[in-house]
Amino acid sequence: MASEGRYIPAAGHAALTRFYDPFMTLTMRERAWRPALGQRILDAVPESGTIVDLGAGTGRNAIDLASARPDVEVIAVDGDSEALELAQAKPGAERIAWREGLAGQLDLPDASADAIVISLVLHHLTPGAKRAALTDAHRVLRPTGRLHIADWGRAHDPLMRVAFFAAQLLDGFATTSDHAAGRIPDYLTDAGFTSTTWRRVRTPGGSLDLIEAKPADESQPA
Ligand SMILES: C[S@@+](CC[C@H](N)C(=O)[O-])C[C@H]1O[C@@H](n2cnc3c(N)ncnc32)[C@H](O)[C@@H]1O
Repeated sequence: MASEGRYIPAAGHAALTRFYDPFMTLTMRERAWRPALGQRILDAVPESGTIVDLGAGTGRNAIDLASARPDVEVIAVDGDSEALELAQAKPGAERIAWREGLAGQLDLPDASADAIVISLVLHHLTPGAKRAALTDAHRVLRPTGRLHIADWGRAHDPLMRVAFFAAQLLDGFATTSDHAAGRIPDYLTDAGFTSTTWRRVRTPGGSLDLIEAKPADESQPA
C-alpha cells in the first residue's frame, strides 16, 4: 500500500476504495459527462498520441479512452496502489501503462503528452499541491497538448451549494474551498494555461465543471 498521507484515497478513506465504482455510478450522473469528456479528449489527440490520466483511480476514464482509440498510448498514474490494483483487474486494463506516482512529481519527460486528464482529483489536493500538480502537468504536456479537468466548481444555485457543502464535510474544507469559490481557472492561469469551462453538470455532490486548458504559450516554438 502507498504511504498514508501522500494522497487522499478515491472514496476519502482507504477502506472504502473498493466501493468507489458503485458509489460513482449511484451518485455522480456519470453518463451526463464522462462520455463527453472522453470524446473531447480523443478528438484532439493525434494518431499514436499519448494521454496521461493523473489520479486515474479505478480507471474509469483510462479504460474507456484506451478502448476507444487502440492507436493511443494511455498512461494512468495514481498514488494509491489499491485503486490501481482494482483498475488493473478490469477488462481492457491490459492496454494501459499503470504507474504508482504522485501529482506534482510525474515521472514523465517534458513535453511528452498530447493530453492530460485530471478528473475528480484536484479537490483532494491542498492549494500548494494543486499548484504543483498543474505546473508539473504544464511541464509534461506538449505545447500543442490539452489539459482536461473535471472537478467541483462554483455552485449553479443555492441547491447545488448545499449539496457541495455536504461533500465538503466529507472531503474537508482545506482542499475544497477554492472549488466552491470558483478559483480553479485562476490556478490554471497561474500555472501557464488558458482555460475554458465547456460544461457544467448538476450532480448530487454539487456542480461539476469540465474545463479544457492549453498552454498559454502554445504559439511559441517547442
Ligand atoms: C475521486 S478519485 C478519482 C478517480 C478517477 N480520476 C475518476 O475520475 O473517477 C481521486 C483519485 O486521485 C488519487 N489521488 C489523490 N491525491 C493524489 C496525489 N497527490 N497524487 C496522485 N493521485 C492522487 C486518489 O488515490 C484517487 O484514486
